[in-house]
Amino acid sequence: MRRYPLIIDCDPGVDDVFAILVAYSKPEFDIKAICSVSGNVGIDLTTHNAQLIAGLLGLNCIVAKGAEKPLIKDVLPATDVHGSDGLGGYAGIFGDDRLSKLSDLSALEVERKILMESDEPVYIAATGPLTNIALLLSAYPEVKSKIAAISIMGGGINIGNVTPCSEFNYFIDPEAAYIVFNSGVKLMMCGLNVTLKATLTDIELNEMSGFHNTIADIGAKILSSYAANDAAIHDPCAILAISDPDMFQYKDQYVQIDTRAGITQGMSYVDETHSLDKEPNCRVFYDIDKEFFRKTIVKSVNI
Ligand code: RIB
Ligand code: CA
Repeated sequence: MRRYPLIIDCDPGVDDVFAILVAYSKPEFDIKAICSVSGNVGIDLTTHNAQLIAGLLGLNCIVAKGAEKPLIKDVLPATDVHGSDGLGGYAGIFGDDRLSKLSDLSALEVERKILMESDEPVYIAATGPLTNIALLLSAYPEVKSKIAAISIMGGGINIGNVTPCSEFNYFIDPEAAYIVFNSGVKLMMCGLNVTLKATLTDIELNEMSGFHNTIADIGAKILSSYAANDAAIHDPCAILAISDPDMFQYKDQYVQIDTRAGITQGMSYVDETHSLDKEPNCRVFYDIDKEFFRKTIVKSVNI
């Protein structure tokens, strides 16, 4: 079986938790670090939530705190979707007594250290605003050759969930997204075109409730409040795009990011007519095998 050394850079966030659960449930992933970034909720909460899920799973990986705000724009938490604690109001049931230790190093230093010390290229799954990743690539360009690919949950082509054309992760930090998409690093993008199809039915929710184990109970609870505002479990797509690309439809495209404030802030757009005569800079994922996704989510909590 192929092994994927993996850094998860995230803003937990309910669907970020499921991205971590999916990576943990698949033996082909070797999770090296979980790094927090400000996004769904503030950095102290996303960091605490990363420690909670890593502790709950007994993950033997580094947990590190990342950027507390976007490069230029202001923070804009999504507490309406993820709750004031970022976990649907259920942070308290994860077990503070199992909190994973927080690294003394920042997310930026941890990501650089892991990449530079690895004897094989490392995958990065980015499921929050791309602030940490942009800082990493800007401060330490030497890491670029050490990155196998950055698999991003973010953006969308002709679709948005903050404005009609901007998705949350890119809207929050469009300058960071612009830096990443112009870095030359191999990119995979699971935007809303594919992630809005990443949903569960009552069948899966009932199945999860029938497992009667801690992880499944917590998963069902945090989903119950989240699903009332967003039925799509976006972030696990970025994990599965690495391990199971054949379960998706994708095209290599030239993608750019709009950094202007306003309705197009963070908009990701594709040169469909190739008028810019540019080589593709991103593998854009457009569709997912829904049954595969549903089975994977159910399996990820049956532990
Ligand atoms: O637009 C959805 C994305 O924004 C997901 O990553 C969700 O967790 C939020 O970060
Ligand atoms: Ca997220």
